[in-house]
This record gives sequence, C-alpha cells and structure tokens, in this order.
Amino acid sequence: MRSFLGRDILSLKDFSRDEFLRVFQVAEDLKPYARDRRNTDLLKNKTLLTAFYQPSTRTRLSTEAAMHRLGGHVLGFSDAKMTRAGDFYQESIKDTFHMLEYYADVIAIRHFQQGAPAEAARWASVPVINCGDGWGEHPTQVLTDLYTIWLEKGTLDGLRVLCVGDMRMRTMHSILYAASQFDLSADVVSPPEMSLLPEFKAELDAMGVSYREVPSVADCLADADVIYMEPVVQADYTQSRVERGSETGRTPEAYRVTRPLLADRAKRDAIILHSLPRMDELPEDVDETRHQRYWVEAFNGVVMRMALLSLVLGAAE
Ligand code: CP
Repeated sequence: MRSFLGRDILSLKDFSRDEFLRVFQVAEDLKPYARDRRNTDLLKNKTLLTAFYQPSTRTRLSTEAAMHRLGGHVLGFSDAKMTRAGDFYQESIKDTFHMLEYYADVIAIRHFQQGAPAEAARWASVPVINCGDGWGEHPTQVLTDLYTIWLEKGTLDGLRVLCVGDMRMRTMHSILYAASQFDLSADVVSPPEMSLLPEFKAELDAMGVSYREVPSVADCLADADVIYMEPVVQADYTQSRVERGSETGRTPEAYRVTRPLLADRAKRDAIILHSLPRMDELPEDVDETRHQRYWVEAFNGVVMRMALLSLVLGAAE
C-alpha cells in the first residue's frame, strides 16, 4: 500500500481496496473524539486552508470541524468573489495555489471546473483534497458514504447498490469508480438526459464495474441493500453559483424514494444514503423509517475528514 503522507486526494480511481480499508480503520480510531465532542492535539502544529469556489454546507464545515477536532488551525474562503480569483483579475488556479501553499500545510478545494483540484495540486507542494469539482468527483463524500455502508453492513462485498438521481453528478462518478475495488454491483436509475455518459461507461467497463441501467426505482428497489440518492432537480454544478428560480420543477415518481414505496418493496435491512441537500426525491417522512442513514452519514463525514487529514499530514500511517 502506498503511504498517504503528503498525498493529494483527488480521485477515487487512485484508491486500492486496501487503501479504502485503511482509511476506514483510521476513522474508527479517531471516531471517539468526534463522538465524545472532544478535541485532541494530533495536528496542533498544522494548518488547513479551505478554498471553496462553490457553495457548500457540509463539506467545507465538516472538513474545518475535523481540523478543529484534531487541534489544528483553519483559514480560507467560502466565496471566491471576495478573492482575486473572482474579481477583475480572475487570478488563475496556478497563481492562486502557488501562493496558498505558503499559507497552510494542506488545502481543501471545491471548484466548479472539473479537474481544478488536480491543476491546483500541480502548483501546490502541500496535499490538496478535492472537495468536489464540477461534474467530476467528490472523493471525501464518497469515502464517507462507503465508510457508512461498511459500518452498517460490516462489508462492502456482495452488496447491490441502487444509485438514483443525476448520473452526471460527481458523487455518482466516485462511487462507481470505488465499486471496482469491491464486489459491489449497481442498479442505475436516472432520467435519460441525466444518464451515464458514454465515456464514463467506457471507463466503468474497463475497470470491470458491474452495473445495469434500470428505468425506475420501483423496478429494482426490492434488490437493493443500499439506496444511494442524488436529486434530479438540482443546480448546474459547472457554475460557480446558481440562484433558485421561482419554479424548480418536481421529481418524476420514477426517481423518488417514498415511504409507501419502501414499505411495499424494500428489504427490511436496506439503508438509504443521501449526500444532501435534498429536494422532493426523498420526502422528510422517510427520516422516520428504519432505512434512513443520512444523518449518521453526516456525522461520519467529520470522522472521515479527520482520518484523511491525519493520514495526509502524517499523524496516522
Ligand atoms: N454533500 C455535499 O457535498 O454537501 P455540501 O454541498 O453542502 O458540501
């Protein structure tokens, strides 16, 4: 297994099975701090910089919370409009990150352009963590999701995952790449205009990922061990920011997971993950069902980011 020390976390294509399991183990070791709301001094001499060029609630704040739990320092921006990258100068990724590396020991970036974190990593000698890049990938979210499945099911092998939502979405890319390292098969449900892109399918085929495209949730819900959701009513992730219009549209029934449908078709032990935010694809009354795991997933997001920061900064091996 390669060392995580100094490593950029850019894509789950880079992760081997052993590396996934190592990250989960480090997360388990660090979980008591988050569970007991305690801070440690493992990273007391380290600084995290969050460079967020797109809105975020969970990813930025859980990464910052993780660094605080580990006793480190945090600085950064959550709106590029208040930096020279977002004003008259339109400062490049190269110039920005060439400089930011002097301000911190690790950089977490979210950007609306696919590949921007990889470009940042070319110019920063400190580890760069991809916190979502356009339609590209969302490695820290999907590590959190996989960690949650691993905890809930005790394994990532022999499971069928129902992926429902916009298949252009970065989480869908990351989870299907990760499936190549486990005995995970996927049922993929999306509107035709949001289906898996041909080049992505070619990658999955080359990686040996087992998946089938299914017209509606109702057609495959009975087979699912894990229901993995994204909205189909959502923002354009290639934009820096999208304001909500007066009419957002409604999610067609084929892409919704509702309480009556779960009661009628789902396995008793099927779990639902959703990276959030949600729209009407996942009604709030599902929160009260045995299947809901998205709130513990949110807690696990802090633990996972503690693990990643510890690993890339050398506080864990
Ligand atoms: N899950 C997720 O990426 O949420 P945020 O956009 O709030 O970070």
